[in-house]
Formats: sequence, structure tokens, C-alpha cells
Amino acid sequence: MSDSPPLSPAGHLDPGPLMQLSTAYWGSQTLLTANRIGLFEQLAGGAKRSEQVAADLGTQPRETLLLLKCCVALGLVTDTEEGFANSPLSQAFLVPGAPGFLGNAISYSDNLYATWGNLEQALREGRPPMATAEYTGDDPQRTRHFVYGMHDRALGIGQAMVSLVDLDGYRQMLDVGGGPGTYSVLFARRNPDLRSRVMDLPGVVAIAEEIIESMGVADRVTTLAGDYLQSEYPSGNDVVLISGVFHRESEAGCRSLIQRARDSLDPGGRLIVSDVFTDLGGTGPLFATLFGVNMMLTAPEGGVHADGDVAAWMAQAGFTDLEKKPFPDPMPHRLVTGIKA
Ligand SMILES: C[S@@+](CC[C@H](N)C(=O)[O-])C[C@H]1O[C@@H](n2cnc3c(N)ncnc32)[C@H](O)[C@@H]1O
Repeated sequence: MSDSPPLSPAGHLDPGPLMQLSTAYWGSQTLLTANRIGLFEQLAGGAKRSEQVAADLGTQPRETLLLLKCCVALGLVTDTEEGFANSPLSQAFLVPGAPGFLGNAISYSDNLYATWGNLEQALREGRPPMATAEYTGDDPQRTRHFVYGMHDRALGIGQAMVSLVDLDGYRQMLDVGGGPGTYSVLFARRNPDLRSRVMDLPGVVAIAEEIIESMGVADRVTTLAGDYLQSEYPSGNDVVLISGVFHRESEAGCRSLIQRARDSLDPGGRLIVSDVFTDLGGTGPLFATLFGVNMMLTAPEGGVHADGDVAAWMAQAGFTDLEKKPFPDPMPHRLVTGIKA
């Protein structure tokens, strides 16, 4: 919501935004459920009558029709003479196998729905209602959704990242908390002389290996199972990437990661930190503040930091040539880069 309160035409305060916000999860849950039960996959081949959709999905006809109508209003489905069909948006991003498929990332949000319902518990107890280890190794199904969800997202965001950061001439990257390894793969594809090691927890690395193999660069992108706050980092890197990790760590944890990255870099080497960051002060942009709450709910030290603070921590650790760059809209990510003096 903006700083100035909304006014009705008669000049009274308009409560509309409050009501809209209080029911926003209705639309979310419609999308999450449609994605979960495979609605968009069912409609991928063309329009179907609602009775047929219900029969194919094993759902009840009356309830399915109500859901389909709501999906039409949300822009997820269109109502045609032949029946209900995917909207262009759903066909592009919600059909498994489509190049822009985001269903895994949406499944990850689906998994978090119940966790958001426990926001009060997190506020009162000071710890996340969901154990992080559930989706970083302990629960195979959740871990798979998490890693493939990161991969789907990184395929889109990564194209922007490799355009923002020129690694021409760099030889050895360490990708700290590299998850599926997607960024390493995209950087390696763009820079034929670049090799990368993807460091992550053992349960995640096992899935990253199959992703890296499927993307055809397993000869130059390898994995390293380890704890980024405890394990020794390999030396001889001229670039260290820390992407999507700072939002899981406290200021002390981030400063430790910066120091460890510095120690593993050759002189003149480059540190790239990428994440969703707020402005200084932490009250905007809106998505970044919501993301901070989401991380509070899913990681013990989870939250969100300001890119200006991260740049200051890097300067104090001995990095120079600090640069802050936003990703192109609508991506909420930002980069902070520096050179080991
Ligand atoms: C949000 S993901 C970011 C993945 C990837 N770098 C990206 O930007 O898409 C954070 C990653 O940190 C990993 N991670 C969390 N705690 C870790 C730890 N103590 N040691 C190593 N990796 C860890 C998680 O398994 C996860 O893959």
C-alpha cells in the first residue's frame, strides 16, 4: 500500500485495500490447488468441457465448475465455445515440459501455505514453524520440489545474471550454497574457459548432479557436499558466487560467508552476492519485506538484508570496487559485487 491513505470519491478513507488484502489468499490457493491437481496439464492439449475435466482429474463436477470459473476470472483459464482452455499465461508457464515451466516453484509456495498460517506461532516462539532440513535433504519429496523449483526460477533469473556480470577471462568459480547449480551452468555455458564447483548440503547436491548432467556441462561444473559455515572452502578461485543465501543467514553469518569467500579467492578475485535485498532501513520494496517474513518462517536465521549494508560488510572485509546493481524489472533481485584487494 502507498504512503498516502486511499480516499473514496466522497473523500472518505477507502477500506477496499484492506478487504482485498484480507482475501488475497483465496486467489493464491486457487492457483496452488489447480497446479497441484494437474488442471493445466489436463487442458494443455485443448479445450475441454468441465464434466470432462472433472472426470479426468477425479474431482466432483459441481465443485470443478466453480473452480474453473474462478480460474477464468483470475486469467488462468479461458471459457471458449469448445469448453475451458488454458490462457496463454498458463499454457506458457504452468504446463509441465514447457520451456518456461514454473510449476515446481509454485509447488514450493504450495508447501509453504500451511507454514504461513503459523506466522503468529513464529512471532511468539522465535523460531520457524517448518524445520529447514525438511526441504534440504530430510524429506525427499520436499527437497526435490525445492531444488527443482530453484532450478526453474534460476533458469529465468540466471539469464539476467549472466548478462549483468561479465566473467570473460575468469577460470574458477566457487558457487556457495549453489543449490541446483543452475547459475554455475549458465555462467559456464557463456564462458567456455570457466569451471565451477557447486557447494551445498549433501541431499541437495545429489539432485544438483542430475540437473548439471542433464544440462551437458558436467565436465566443467562439479559439486562439493559441505556446510558453507563449517566446511573448508577450496582455494584458487578467481570468482565466488553467493546467490540466494544471505536471506537464510544473520548479519554475523553473512559476514562469516564474506570472510570465507575472501580467504578462498586469489588476489584480484571477485565476489558476487545476489539476493532479494531491501533498501536501507528495510521497509521496501514491498516484495522484499514479504520475502523477509517468508524466510523468517522457513529458516532459523531467515530474513532479508539491505544491499547497502551488504556492501558495507564487504568493504569492511577488504573488498574494493563495490558495485550494486538491480536485476531488470519485474525481478526483485539485486547484486553486490566487489574485488579482493
Ligand atoms: C535459496 S537457495 C539458493 C540456491 C542457488 N544459489 C540459487 O540462487 O538459486 C539456498 C541454498 O543454500 C543451501 N544451504 C542452506 N544452508 C546451507 C549450509 N549450511 N551449507 C551449505 N548450503 C546450505 C540450501 O540447500 C539451498 O540450496
